[in-house]
Amino acid sequence: MRNLSTRRRHPLAGFVVLLMGLVVAGGLYAAFAPRAATAEEASSRDVEAGRQLFLIGCASCHGKNASGITTKSGGNYGPSLIGVGAAAVDFQVGTGRMPLAQSGPQAPRKDPEYTAEETSQLAAYVASLAPGPAIPESEYLDWRAANTEEVREGGEFFRTNCTACHNSVGAGGALPNGRYAPSLDNTSAKHIYEAMLTGPQQMPLFSDAVITPDDKRNVIAYVKTLQQQPDYGGLAGGGLGPVVDGMFTFIIGIGALVGFAVWIGAHGARVKKQR
Ligand code: HEC
Ligand code: HEC
Repeated sequence: MRNLSTRRRHPLAGFVVLLMGLVVAGGLYAAFAPRAATAEEASSRDVEAGRQLFLIGCASCHGKNASGITTKSGGNYGPSLIGVGAAAVDFQVGTGRMPLAQSGPQAPRKDPEYTAEETSQLAAYVASLAPGPAIPESEYLDWRAANTEEVREGGEFFRTNCTACHNSVGAGGALPNGRYAPSLDNTSAKHIYEAMLTGPQQMPLFSDAVITPDDKRNVIAYVKTLQQQPDYGGLAGGGLGPVVDGMFTFIIGIGALVGFAVWIGAHGARVKKQR
């Protein structure tokens, strides 16, 4: 007993206790800290491979260090990619928007030029430069797990936040200055999530803080339901419904009748008699 209490008063005792406290706290932090959205999991080999691909395919516009290149007039050949995150690269390269083929008002969707592996290497490289939104986890992409109620919620969300640009059935629509919101007919669950997460071009950004990953999954489920919906006869007409069908019947039907009447007027039996 005596021995212990003398030792406790050892001048270094306080220091040792502090040190132990720090080690325990550090350990706890490492165990429970939220995973940073950097390329921590990506091996350094991926990052290096991505950097090589980047230098060949992207650096001409985005700069050797991905910090962007400004034109003499103050515009951009390619914006800085520092902090855009793996999600932005996965979206842009995965939907074929990047590498940009020619400058225009908007990078169009096309067949991807890079394999899935190369795309993830490019993403790992850009993510290694600065933290940014990570590629979404598969549990939030599993839209088939959403029940009817959740799909309905997703639909409500879609109508409030997305229809203004993408139309109520996701058929897309025009925007000012030659830009457009694309059709969502063929977009994968991952790319829908990433579009919300990174807000490409004119599209607003719906971060995970604003719309939780669960809500995003419901929106995806709704868009997927739209994609699978068959057209119930008639012309799809961009989802405008019976109005479009009616209009076509009217214009083509009445048009044909008028044309026929004119023809009769010119070729009828009486016309021939008068000649
Ligand atoms: C010909 C020039 C050009 C090339 C080559 C190019 N980009 Fe881009 N990139 C642009 C321009 C311009 C934009 C901005 C316009 C836009 O977003 O549509 C852009 C946007 C992006 C964005 C979106 C940034 C953001 O803020 O969300 C990413 C990510 C990206 N590029 C990655 C790449 C990668 C990776 C490559 C190589 C595989 C590449 N780019 C090749 C010109 C280029
Ligand atoms: C202000 C108009 C606007 C709103 C609102 C908007 N978007 Fe977009 N969206 C765009 C534009 C513009 C693009 C094309 C960006 C590009 O090509 O760089 C786009 C692209 C997309 C894409 C990629 C499609 C593809 O196949 O490549 C998806 C998916 C998407 N949006 C989903 C959504 C969802 C879901 C919402 C609602 C939560 C939404 N958008 C709200 C304008 C909008």
